[in-house]
Amino acid sequence: MNILQIHSSARADGSHSSRLAHTIVERIRAALPDDVDAAITLRDLGRTPHPELNETALQALFTPAEQRTAEQADRVALDDALIAELQAADVVVLGVPMYNFGVPAQLKNWIDAISRAKVTFQYTAKGPEGLLKGKKVYIALTRGGQYRNTPADTQVPYLKTVLSFLGMTDIQLVYAEGLAMGPDAEQQALASAHSQIKELVIGEEAVAA
Ligand SMILES: Cc1cc2nc3c(=O)[nH]c(=O)nc-3n(C[C@H](O)[C@H](O)[C@H](O)COP(=O)(O)O)c2cc1C
Repeated sequence: MNILQIHSSARADGSHSSRLAHTIVERIRAALPDDVDAAITLRDLGRTPHPELNETALQALFTPAEQRTAEQADRVALDDALIAELQAADVVVLGVPMYNFGVPAQLKNWIDAISRAKVTFQYTAKGPEGLLKGKKVYIALTRGGQYRNTPADTQVPYLKTVLSFLGMTDIQLVYAEGLAMGPDAEQQALASAHSQIKELVIGEEAVAA
C-alpha cells in the first residue's frame, strides 16, 4: 500500500497539522494486515515549497512537450513529479492548517500542480470526470478558532470540491479547533482530534482502536 503524506504548514517544527497527519498514517499502518507493507512518501510543502502557477509555468504547460525549452521542461517536470506521486498513492493523508480562512498558499500550489486536464481530470459529453479514482483521503484540519460547519470555513467545501473533481471522493476529516483559545482549549482540541483519528474508517470497515 502506498501512502502519500502531505504537510502544508509553514512551520518546520511544532506543527499540529503535520503531527496529526503523521498520527493518521501511524493509525493506518497499525490497521494493516501483517502481510501488507506500507510505503510512505512524505511531501512537506512547507520545507520544500512548490512553485506557484505563474505565466512562465502556464506557458510551459501549454507548449507541446517536444517544443519546450529546457527551462520549460524543467518546470513541467516539477508538476509531473507531484502527479506521479499522487497517481501511485492508494491513500492520501493531508495536514492542513487554516490560514486567513483558507488553505495555505503552498497547498494551493500543490493543487494547481496536480490538477491537469486529460491527466487527472477530463471533460466528457456528460461533464467532468476525475481520473484519480479509488483512493482514500484523510485530512487533518487545524485552526486557532472554531469554524467547523460555519460559512467562515471555506477550506472544507473547497477541498471536497477540488479533490472530488479529481476523482477522490472518499474523504474523511479530523478537526483540531480552538488551538489559540488557551491551554485548556488547545488540550481539548488535540484530545478530540486523537479520538477522531481512532474512529476513522480504515479499509473497508471501521477498525475499532
Ligand atoms: C498566518 C496565519 C494565519 C492564520 N489564520 C487563521 C484563521 O484564519 N483562522 C483560524 O482559526 N486560525 C488561523 N490561524 C491559526 C492556525 O490555523 C493554527 O495555529 C494552526 O494550528 C496552524 O497549523 P500548524 O500547527 O500545523 O502550523 C492562523 C495562523 C497563521 C500562522
